[in-house]
Amino acid sequence: MKIIKSQKEITQYCNKINIPTSFVPTMGALHKGHERLLKEARKRCDFLIASLFINPLQFNNPNDLLNYPKNLQLDIETFEKNNVDLLYIPDQKEIINSDLKKVDSGQGGKILEGKFRPGHFDGVLTIVNKLFELIKPDYAYFGIKDLQQLCLIFTKLSPLHNTKIVPVETVRESSGLALSSRNTLLNNNEKKIASKIFEGLKSLDQMLKKNKSIDIETFLKEFYREQKFLEVEYILIEKLSIFNEKNMNISDLFGGYNYTAVMVSAKVGGVRLIDNILIK
Ligand code: PAF
Repeated sequence: MKIIKSQKEITQYCNKINIPTSFVPTMGALHKGHERLLKEARKRCDFLIASLFINPLQFNNPNDLLNYPKNLQLDIETFEKNNVDLLYIPDQKEIINSDLKKVDSGQGGKILEGKFRPGHFDGVLTIVNKLFELIKPDYAYFGIKDLQQLCLIFTKLSPLHNTKIVPVETVRESSGLALSSRNTLLNNNEKKIASKIFEGLKSLDQMLKKNKSIDIETFLKEFYREQKFLEVEYILIEKLSIFNEKNMNISDLFGGYNYTAVMVSAKVGGVRLIDNILIK
């Protein structure tokens, strides 16, 4: 695996690649969810590029950035194990400076999760746009767990680049807890409590299969009220079409179905977690 840190070198290197490329951007602290992205990416293309950059622009809470898990050596081993050909670890000063082109996430970045994390999606889009400009991948992979991020990248960045955005399923522990780098901040008991987030969503899905007319919000509120130590921040129910802007059909991303997304954010032991389920 080749590791590049300089912007000039990554541009030159990527300009010379003449076979289809897959790209997986990450902030490190890799887990099986990232490995799923890398495996999907590997299947589709002969050349696999990954990046590792903890993007300060997407942290609206400075403590969150400070506490974000970091494990460079282990991450490099995981990238290698997953047959990454090229790993880009940008130098922060080369990326975040006055030349950086800001990308505005617009209304889509201010709703739902964006309401609770002002500026977060602008920060994500700005960095992913920069990475796409340097790497020019044919395909890029994003997890469905970060649903709004995926939808905004598709809506805002697809028109600017020749990069196909590929959604990848959420990977879960056997308890149902969605894998996230933040899970490393939870102890075993907290993980058990956190697994109730998805248990609620799964029970909802099962209930809706039996009775389409139940009220989603009431059902989930009641379910979560019984979970001690799970502090629910929001339950959001939204048609995915809310992300349609400029006549782009976000449901294309999900095989043409017009899904309703049920998104939940909750804190366990002070750690903020998000998850979602898509209902047809
Ligand atoms: O999902 C993430 O890990 C980050 O938001 C991303 C896409 C790597 C941008 O910094």
